[in-house]
Amino acid sequence: MSASDLAPPAGTALKALDAVPDPGGAPADYEALPILIVRSGQTVKAYINVCPHQGRPLCLPSGKTLVSEGRFVVCPFHGASFDIESGACAGGPAGKAGLKPIAVEVRDGQVVAV
Ligand code: FES
Repeated sequence: MSASDLAPPAGTALKALDAVPDPGGAPADYEALPILIVRSGQTVKAYINVCPHQGRPLCLPSGKTLVSEGRFVVCPFHGASFDIESGACAGGPAGKAGLKPIAVEVRDGQVVAV
């Protein structure tokens, strides 16, 4: 079963936008699928919350998500960084592997799967 098989159905509210630091991120798991909502200003994206380097979460156990320069999520384990807008790897030990996106939009103050 792939991650896309587990993706939340369109219309599923994943997180209140106010609960996502700006810039920053917050976990919003859907059933068995770990999801990280990330935000920088008007940009709100969601990715599978698994670092492509060694498969660890992209946030700390508290949910705190490290952000650099207001536009890169930084994995807390070995420092791989990923562009919030695209999920592309921007540096560190993950090579060229980027993050797997989950399509979302903001609707009535909620981050919703589309
Ligand atoms: S697990 Fe993320 S950089 Fe190593």
